[in-house]
Amino acid sequence: MQKPRVPISLLLLLAGIPLILVEAAIPRQPDSRIVNGREAREGEFPYQLSLRRQTVHICGASILASNWAITAAHCVDGHEQQPREFTLRQGSIMRSTGGTVQPVKAIHKHPAYDRTDMNYDVALLRTSDKALIYPLGKVAPIRLPAVGEAISDSVPAIVSGWGHMSTTNPILSPVLKSTTVLTVNQEKCHNDLRRHGGVTEAMFCAAARNTDACQGDSGGPISSQGTLIGIVSWGVGCADPYYPGVYTRLAHPTIRRWIRLLSKL
Ligand code: ARG
Repeated sequence: MQKPRVPISLLLLLAGIPLILVEAAIPRQPDSRIVNGREAREGEFPYQLSLRRQTVHICGASILASNWAITAAHCVDGHEQQPREFTLRQGSIMRSTGGTVQPVKAIHKHPAYDRTDMNYDVALLRTSDKALIYPLGKVAPIRLPAVGEAISDSVPAIVSGWGHMSTTNPILSPVLKSTTVLTVNQEKCHNDLRRHGGVTEAMFCAAARNTDACQGDSGGPISSQGTLIGIVSWGVGCADPYYPGVYTRLAHPTIRRWIRLLSKL
């Protein structure tokens, strides 16, 4: 009797099945974007913007006023003289559809921004007058902290964005996501990140188990009690239990006063 002939491709496929099953059984890197957290409802983050360069989402940003947005300096670094390359999508939880898209008219990177240590990782984006006001209740500015306003340890803060689902799965989320993290004691964070240069007074850290901001969330908001306390800046991997996420501290006098000087806000 002739043996049934099984194509080699089918054999390979069958051989792969146990592997797939085993893979499904081990707890994997958190699967959703922003590394866990949850999807936003339309209008839940009315201050959230998608910063686009040549129409592609590169970073988050937040609305401060009808003609001002704030993001991370590293999102625009090297392109400050080319504001025309950038646009802002507002009023949509979808990364690439809905809301309206407004051109950026001018880019102001913090003068003390240092790309080697990410200090003062903040930039202001000016749009044309009233460009960021939109009569749908889906768009609204977020308030800034006062100069020098302290951040207590272990306070919950909410971070949002369209960033990667995990370090190992670098795919942007089509829908805005958010998660809650807790602010980390400054000395502890400095110590946790000492091999990566530590943190400065113009940074603060926040972390929670199995959840974090990730690549593509940069420039976006972290807020506490309705105040924009920081901007997603950097991290070592994403949702790594040993490394908290690092944020630009907007209440830092050198940052907060610079914002006021430029925008009167
Ligand atoms: N630098 C990243 C970006 O450009 C943000 C990284 C935030 N990482 C973190 N683990 N919290 O999108």
